[in-house]
Amino acid sequence: MATPQMDDGNHRYGGPWSEWKVQAVSDYLDAYLNITDNRGFTRWYIDAFAGSGTRLASGSAIEGQALIEGASEEVKLLHKGSALRALEKRFERFLLVDNDKAKVDGLRAHAQDAGKEHLATIIEGDACDTIVKWCSNLAPQSMDRAVVFVDPYGTNAEWRMIEALAKTGRADVFILVPTRLLTQFMTKRYEDVHPNHVERLDSFFGNRSWSTELYKPQPIQQNIFFTPEEEMSRTASAQGIIDHYKNRLRSIFRGGVSENVRWLCNSAGGSMFGLVFAVANASEKACVKAIRVADHILGKPPG
Ligand SMILES: C[S@@+](CC[C@H](N)C(=O)[O-])C[C@H]1O[C@@H](n2cnc3c(N)ncnc32)[C@H](O)[C@@H]1O
Repeated sequence: MATPQMDDGNHRYGGPWSEWKVQAVSDYLDAYLNITDNRGFTRWYIDAFAGSGTRLASGSAIEGQALIEGASEEVKLLHKGSALRALEKRFERFLLVDNDKAKVDGLRAHAQDAGKEHLATIIEGDACDTIVKWCSNLAPQSMDRAVVFVDPYGTNAEWRMIEALAKTGRADVFILVPTRLLTQFMTKRYEDVHPNHVERLDSFFGNRSWSTELYKPQPIQQNIFFTPEEEMSRTASAQGIIDHYKNRLRSIFRGGVSENVRWLCNSAGGSMFGLVFAVANASEKACVKAIRVADHILGKPPG
């Protein structure tokens, strides 16, 4: 995975897929705000892995993007990240978290520019610890509601955080699942999975279920007694991995999980990530609406 960098205070990372995911979440936020207007809720936008608010990318000039620097063959393009887009919307509160000081400084500056610093809690710290704490501080009957975007680079969206959000009963959650990285961690033969990766996978899926759901015994050869030998081999592709993750989400999110997944692919068409959506709300009416909107957005072709 390419190492993300900062460039003049802007976060440099990702590719076209970074735009597709941010656009999908932004579309959902607009629909959510319209649906929940005048209901007396305190609506939070929570960005667990918020970045700096902007993303700097190199590429050819694309209509509608801010061109900040020209070069002979390449231009630098400044894109609005998830947090900056959300700050422009009418949420009552914001919780923005990143563990990188320079990015947190960027978030603070954007909140100030948007005139929202009094509404924004911006934390330099670990996403999982911060979100678990936020969930545990929610008063039982409060009118707080949240849309949460969980957008790490890798597998550091720990299950304990996802579980805490599910338990609130009042959060709509988008999670970016790093399918390519997960397939790299999950080597073809189960016995080759590195112990550090076993630990990461357990913490990502919340238990060891991945080892039995995504690996199956496969015959490998006949030994000298001509009895077939088997080894645990990964049979699941990126789709199988996402299906398993969605099943895990279904086991804890009372409001359900979107059927559709927005696949984010590289230029060669290989899937890098899958964006999924789950609803913690126990009210059937609210969940049906939320899932319908998210399914529509996630099912649209990117671009
Ligand atoms: C993919 S970027 C987020 C991009 C952002 N959603 C956007 O649209 O601009 C992931 C961010 O997570 C941060 N990060 C990584 N591990 C973290 C952790 N454990 N806690 C908080 N932030 C973390 C990184 O510093 C990085 O800014």
